[in-house]
Amino acid sequence: MLDTKLQFRLFREEDLTEVVDINRKCLPENYPPFFFLDLHMSFPKTFLVAEVENKIAGYVMCRIESGLSDFHPGRIVQKGHVVSIAVLPEYRRKGIGRSLMVASLNGMLDYKATESFLEVRVSNYPAISLYKELGFIIARKISKYYHDGEDAYVMALDLLEKKFSNEHLKAI
Ligand code: ACO
Ligand code: ZN
Repeated sequence: MLDTKLQFRLFREEDLTEVVDINRKCLPENYPPFFFLDLHMSFPKTFLVAEVENKIAGYVMCRIESGLSDFHPGRIVQKGHVVSIAVLPEYRRKGIGRSLMVASLNGMLDYKATESFLEVRVSNYPAISLYKELGFIIARKISKYYHDGEDAYVMALDLLEKKFSNEHLKAI
């Protein structure tokens, strides 16, 4: 039933209130509304929402940055930084988070990013499992990254690696 009503599309400005609300409900890392709009205006192809019957069930938003490669020591590359992803509790474990991630990774390729990375709480088993399933590896740990003192894993994905195939990217 969910399948027929579920739609993935780019974020639009009228989604702002719902997306801000989902972020506040699902994560301790919150941002002012202009931060969301700024990411949407700068990188529209990597800011997506999942919509079920006119209701937003989840979002992912990213930023393209240049920085040191996590896979080719010393090289500066374009990287897609997954800034935030969340799915409302009642819509979890249905593949929405995975599809949002795949769509944003596709968007990163459009911006010529060759790698993706993100930070995640070391205790966040669901999210870490999702990222591992997509091929992300734990690149390093940042001690006390979060305001409450928790450590973060930096997880990274080589978007050009063979195993991250076109089939994978076409999954949604
Ligand atoms: N336990 C174990 N594995 C899990 C879990 C879980 N609770 N949730 C997801 N996974 C793994 C599984 O391998 C799953 O595949 P399966 O269901 O076939 O076993 C796979 O990830 C795909 O799961 P989805 O259903 O696509 O994920 P979902 O739609 O539930 O969204 C998300 C995952 C976004 C992490 C969700 O749990 C959430 O919103 N959590 C709260 C917010 C959050 O932690 N966001 C990430 C913070 S880090 C960052 O934003 C960069
Ligand atoms: Zn980050």
